[in-house]
Amino acid sequence: MAEIFKGSKINGDFKDKHIVSIDQFRPEDLTILYAESAAAEIMRGEIGKTDILHGKLLANLFYQPSTRTSRSFSSAMHRLGGEVELIDNVEYSSVAKGESLTDTIRTMEQYTDVTVLRHPEVGAAALAASVAEHPIINAGDGIGEHPTQALLDLYTIKKSFKDIGGLAITMVGDLKNGRTVHSLAKLAAMYDVRINYVSPPELTMPDYIRKQLADLGIEQNEYPDIESSLADTDVLYMTRVQKEWFEDEVEYERLKHAFVLDGETMEHASDNMIVMHPLPRVGEIAKEVDADSRAKYFEQMANGMYVRMGLLALVLGKSLLPTTIAEHRVLTER
Ligand code: NCD
Repeated sequence: MAEIFKGSKINGDFKDKHIVSIDQFRPEDLTILYAESAAAEIMRGEIGKTDILHGKLLANLFYQPSTRTSRSFSSAMHRLGGEVELIDNVEYSSVAKGESLTDTIRTMEQYTDVTVLRHPEVGAAALAASVAEHPIINAGDGIGEHPTQALLDLYTIKKSFKDIGGLAITMVGDLKNGRTVHSLAKLAAMYDVRINYVSPPELTMPDYIRKQLADLGIEQNEYPDIESSLADTDVLYMTRVQKEWFEDEVEYERLKHAFVLDGETMEHASDNMIVMHPLPRVGEIAKEVDADSRAKYFEQMANGMYVRMGLLALVLGKSLLPTTIAEHRVLTER
């Protein structure tokens, strides 16, 4: 088999690039992406929709369940004037007949301009990218990475804090199987941050990520529980225990509520700390925390669409930036 394509560096130019891993990014790329995301946010607030991706079609190819990622990508495409071809019931496609991922990718790109792919195997997005002519965006490859989630997570963090440098980010839950924390750890490590881990011993952050961060000089600490991490936490990033990767149901039941954030714990946290979660949650954040102004997980969902709007515009060679709201209005009304 050909060497697995890892995705080339963005280097300030997103056009026609596959988005496979956070390893492709540098802080300069984030500046470009977040300027687009902020423009998308303003445009949505003012007029709801523009037409810069008129005539473009996105393939949303999901081999695993999704609510936010799939719907925010398709809403993003629609709000930019493009259209969406959705395959999320792969059992009704030729996948059920045994078609390979690469053949499915080659098929879909005959009809569409960009593919968003979620797949249960690590490396699936890289494999797809190795055969694809048009951009593949990794929306989660097994327990590997989920780069667009990390991009929206960091956008959310940037909105809450003036500087990323100096922040302590505490990741809680299933750090072994959670692809969102794998990508976020790598992304945050581009800045001068501290990363803390709170997880059951069976579900710790993989060594390859710890090593990648250590090589960058990032300080990493373990805490036995949420409570003891609070004095050293600006961002509390909660995750669910990933049931789908457990072979033993009893083991899952034993670990699923190892760390739960509730109102009482929040009373011991600082006023400036924020709480994040990629969602879905399955009991690890009590509902009473939702009303706390430090809870940012609903804002994260909204930011997901803006960051994905920015990303789609850029990989398809467009920009929301030079276009004023008045110009977007003209585009939409034409
Ligand atoms: C995450 C995922 O699919 O990895 N969900 C998401 O995209 N927001 C997190 C999870 O499922 O726990």
